[in-house]
Amino acid sequence: MDKIFINTRIAQLILLQRIDLASSFLIRMRKLFGRKFFTKFVSKYLINPEQIGKRYINDMEEEYKNISSYYDFNNKNILSIGPGVGGLELVINKKNDVNRFSLIDKNYISEKVVYGWDFKNSEAYNDLDLVQTFLTKNGVSKKKINIFDFDKDEFPLEDFNIIISLFSLDYHYSYELYSDYFKKIMKNDTILIFDTIRPQYFESLFNSVKIIKTIDNSVHKSSRIICSGAK
Ligand SMILES: C[S@@+](CC[C@H](N)C(=O)[O-])C[C@H]1O[C@@H](n2cnc3c(N)ncnc32)[C@H](O)[C@@H]1O
Repeated sequence: MDKIFINTRIAQLILLQRIDLASSFLIRMRKLFGRKFFTKFVSKYLINPEQIGKRYINDMEEEYKNISSYYDFNNKNILSIGPGVGGLELVINKKNDVNRFSLIDKNYISEKVVYGWDFKNSEAYNDLDLVQTFLTKNGVSKKKINIFDFDKDEFPLEDFNIIISLFSLDYHYSYELYSDYFKKIMKNDTILIFDTIRPQYFESLFNSVKIIKTIDNSVHKSSRIICSGAK
């Protein structure tokens, strides 16, 4: 992909959302000074935005390759749960003619980002105005984007063809947070793709569950699954 628009504030969000993009220098700083200092200072002032942007888009192009071999995004209505700044949506938009993107995320940065399983779902690292800026400045038409604040907005009740959540739903917080909402919007042919730490559990909820990727070289082992046909 060509050079993308990025600034320091967006790069900070990307770094917190995709911590594996951190250079060894940044990781050392986090070990030395702790997560609070890392979130408040290091991730803001000691980063190279262009480098983070480039690595982020490379990662998102890899994610796209993985998912697009199972799904055609043309003319589809896409719902993203916890999209971060929307790098995957940007790549999908470049390569397809999508009807609309609806994105649900939180609108604050926690003081100290720990990752792992968050029972209270209080941890977040996003800024919804910056998501809008990142997407529109990088060529996604404003008319195609609808952004929702998880804590404040009513969720959209539309017919979505696909729901995507990378490293968010059932990776950091329980699927049950969204299950009632999904029951309202999922049709028989709606596809749900997400990274989960408990893939087997979803066999009791869906007629079809297929693992399309496994990640076991991280502390947080997970599988990416495609589900359809809610039971
Ligand atoms: C690890 S980041 C992953 C971001 C993006 N999907 C990616 O793969 O780069 C997790 C994202 O989930 C968001 N999040 C946390 N709780 C959420 C909730 N209840 N609903 C939607 N998003 C949530 C965070 O703010 C953050 O943007």
